[in-house]
Amino acid sequence: MTTVYLNGDYLPLAQARVPVTDRGFVFGDGVYEVIPVYGAHLFRLEQHLVRLARSLAEIRLANPLSGAAWREVLQNLVARNGGGDQSVYVQVTRGPAPRDHAFPKDVRPTVYATSSPLKPLPADLAQNGVAAITLDDNRWQRCDIKAITLLPNILLRQQAVDAGAVEAILIRDGVITEGAASNVFMVRGGVLVTPAKGPFLLPGITRDLILELAAVNTIPYEESSFTAGALRHADEVWLTSSTREILPVTRLDQRPVGNGKPGPLWRRMMDLYQFYKQQVRERGEDVAVV
Ligand code: PDD
Repeated sequence: MTTVYLNGDYLPLAQARVPVTDRGFVFGDGVYEVIPVYGAHLFRLEQHLVRLARSLAEIRLANPLSGAAWREVLQNLVARNGGGDQSVYVQVTRGPAPRDHAFPKDVRPTVYATSSPLKPLPADLAQNGVAAITLDDNRWQRCDIKAITLLPNILLRQQAVDAGAVEAILIRDGVITEGAASNVFMVRGGVLVTPAKGPFLLPGITRDLILELAAVNTIPYEESSFTAGALRHADEVWLTSSTREILPVTRLDQRPVGNGKPGPLWRRMMDLYQFYKQQVRERGEDVAVV
């Protein structure tokens, strides 16, 4: 039975309860993080806690825990769920209150964290890659906040699944922003390109790690916007996230990307990523990126 953390207590999942008046339930008024765990070590924990603090500040909700307290809670949760490899989900909502759009006064936020097994990546990933489609980015203008209010992302992802693809790659004003639940990279003439951070995409922790790995391994990269047309003519296209790592997209809108196989830079980056992950698994969070 999974153990969860809820407002200061550790309890079995089946016993965890929140009031139906919770603004997370009623309005989707809250923020979240998803943090992978390897060998009982929370991967890039500092970066996830910084992003959580930023999301909370952007929705004007005081951070309910200090950095040290977050670390303690999440490490306890990982230990209580047996260590090893896991995926930790953390959510903070504005708490239970009578329904009114404006912020309630004197409300205690709801702090929740749970853990689940990490889903394995597709077994044929290195042979076949994955399919994606492009769709109009019809989300709001603050996609940099990791908000639990995910209805647009859900509808976009479902359209991709209905089309036999794993992800929807989103286009706003002609340029690529990100995936419904991932960041997007392309490779063009040996250069790795990903959109610069801004209000229209989530500042992905995996994205940043890939750019760090590129920098220390002298792989040329750029943070700049590119069009859907450029994406269609890219040599490689990747999707990145904490739970799916780096997915090579080999079919985009039913057409092959490059030669239709995962590309050489994907293989190289995947090796660098797996090596770094292994170092964290064996030695803990603070290993240097190499
Ligand atoms: N989603 N963009 C969006 C919209 C996302 O939802 C995610 C991750 C990312 C990648 O961010 P990171 O590398 O920090 O995981 C980009 C998580 C995994 C989720 O919602 O389950």
